[in-house]
Amino acid sequence: MIHLSQSRSSIIFEQEGDSLAIIYWGKKLGQIDKQGALAIKSALTKPAFHGGLDVASGNLVLREHSRGWIGHPALRGHRSGISATNSFSVKRIDQKDQTLFVTFEDLIAGLEIEMSYSLNASDVLLVDATITNTAEGDYYLEHFLYWLPLAEQADQVLDFYGHWTKERQPQRRDIGYGLTTREGFEGRSGHDYTITQVALNHATGFRHGEAWSLAMAWSGNNIHHVEHLIDGHKSIGAGEYLLPGEVILKKGQSYSAPRAVASFSDRGLDGLTNNHYAWIRSRPNHITKVRPRPLTLNMWEAVYFNHNEEGIRKMVDKAAEIGVERVVLDDGWFGSRRNDRAGLGDWVVSKDAWPQGLDPIIKYINDKGIEFGLWFEGEMVNCDSDLYRAHPDWILQEPGRLPIEGRWQQVLDLTKEGAYNHVLNQVDAVLSAHNIAYIKWDHNRHITDPVSDGRAVVREQTQAIYRLFDELKKRHPGLEIESCASGGGRIDLGMIEHADRFWTSDQNDPLERQKIQRWTGLVIPPEFLGTHIGPTVGHQMNRTHSVSFRALNALFGHAGIEWNITEADPKETETLKSYIAFYKNHRNLLHSGSVVRSDEVVGNAQLYGTVALDKKEAIFTYMQLTSLDNLGPLLTTFDGLDKETLYKIRVVEELSAVDFIQKRTPGWWPELELTGDQLAHIGLQLPVLKPESGLLFHVVAI
Ligand code: DGJ
Repeated sequence: MIHLSQSRSSIIFEQEGDSLAIIYWGKKLGQIDKQGALAIKSALTKPAFHGGLDVASGNLVLREHSRGWIGHPALRGHRSGISATNSFSVKRIDQKDQTLFVTFEDLIAGLEIEMSYSLNASDVLLVDATITNTAEGDYYLEHFLYWLPLAEQADQVLDFYGHWTKERQPQRRDIGYGLTTREGFEGRSGHDYTITQVALNHATGFRHGEAWSLAMAWSGNNIHHVEHLIDGHKSIGAGEYLLPGEVILKKGQSYSAPRAVASFSDRGLDGLTNNHYAWIRSRPNHITKVRPRPLTLNMWEAVYFNHNEEGIRKMVDKAAEIGVERVVLDDGWFGSRRNDRAGLGDWVVSKDAWPQGLDPIIKYINDKGIEFGLWFEGEMVNCDSDLYRAHPDWILQEPGRLPIEGRWQQVLDLTKEGAYNHVLNQVDAVLSAHNIAYIKWDHNRHITDPVSDGRAVVREQTQAIYRLFDELKKRHPGLEIESCASGGGRIDLGMIEHADRFWTSDQNDPLERQKIQRWTGLVIPPEFLGTHIGPTVGHQMNRTHSVSFRALNALFGHAGIEWNITEADPKETETLKSYIAFYKNHRNLLHSGSVVRSDEVVGNAQLYGTVALDKKEAIFTYMQLTSLDNLGPLLTTFDGLDKETLYKIRVVEELSAVDFIQKRTPGWWPELELTGDQLAHIGLQLPVLKPESGLLFHVVAI
């Protein structure tokens, strides 16, 4: 028996004959001695039921039908129609600290699978697998899925769907018999990508209950399943979705599956979130270890394709006045890109848009102590471009059939050396010639025909973009890359290793975005998530929101602005200054603390908090989304603090609502001293907020 455990979770493996099963994954168990191991094994041995096989299968790692498994096998493939079944035996098994290494072999099929399960100090389980063809002839791999067992009390599944401007919408369903599945074939993770799939008990909430999550660290096609079999087995599985013929292994060749990331929490969804954040933040190259996240002004919604230098200079003046640290020039600066129908592929500064080139504006920005960032969409090409005219053969397509266009563009085939080098060299040249700290890298269409010279290549195309990002960063140390795909269409746990920021959504309406941010943040830390104050009348929903409500929404991420700030009146300008000052003063806490999302809030509102790891300080927002159903009591509790410590809790009035539906404010307003225990269990009576307004709280230990 091999027992991996950390502070809050355990996973136990047991050899079943020459096979390997996972017999437990959940709450941490104490030390298990030899006798205990035997007892557990015997406790879990199933009866063999009538009408079934003579031996009941356990939760096998590889789930071969030949061993009695009746659900999905981990591996599916064949050799031109033969060798379609498998039976793997453990060839080597070893444990080092909290990592299990195991090699399986199937001598008949001529395959070897090396796997590792590493339970790290943050209670995140990282699983890797490599499949090797050890026999003569080609092996056609159809899929390899990672599977983990679920406890009986996992009776629901939570995953996320979405589309442009509405990413990461939660759907929570009962687990029935059969498969509950999410699959993505966009050739990128996509707006509809679940990021992670969670199995949980129906009573699990943000702050309590058990939850098991599994995600792929991958930006290409994907599969997420929960499977409930009639023999009682309940499991969660995930893998890369492979297209026919995408992976054909010759003798000696291997396929390394993208990594799977799993976690168990007995402290609700917040526990899962905090496990992921702790793991991601512990990586040596994590972005906040490099530098604090600069307050960013992105000019897309301010200017779109109208790159008027004089207007932009005025905006930069105002940006400097209010404390912006990075200004980003979006789409439209290159080639013939005066609108979205032409120019993609020609990454050369346009004389039409910028007659003097970009140097003067970059200097203007830099002279004010602000960094400059620039937009690219290097994987795409418009047919109306010099690149396409010169190399029509460099797009992904089924030979002889031009793919339908998406935003009037085709996908460049980065698996072709010439195309890859074209993008790398042109982007590199722009970066080498200018002082550019950051690039926003877009990907605005699905890949409908991911075919290169007749073969499916989503996998290779995904690996190519990882390689390209890594190469650009190597050539330009300190360069930061934002992964954008029409907003949040390429946010995943694979991209966190190659990009430094995600554009969470093109939706800047704070009402809509509260939900998008809350759920994207389930496993992606806020320092990765671009969150901007949009225009007063939002461009997506046409709704009007106060600048303070927009600021409270944007504060809890990698904060910024997406608005022509020269339009801000003096009062709005003051609020913008307060927002930026508050962000700069508190970003270290906002980007390092534990997350608290309340289950207790009443009245169509949402509470979100970040508590310092030493519990000495916390920041909460209370967002009143729609009007109240009743008049209270509007008691809100603030969880996650140290029970014994006395705190001062203060409303940050310069960023909070000023206008309420009440004759008198609550007795404590605007500050009070209470212990962590009292804040968590008694809470505060809140003022009666108007819809679409919010409160910001700063909590400090006394
Ligand atoms: C889609 C992105 O999400 C926007 O922020 C913007 O960069 C446009 N593309 C530019 O074309």
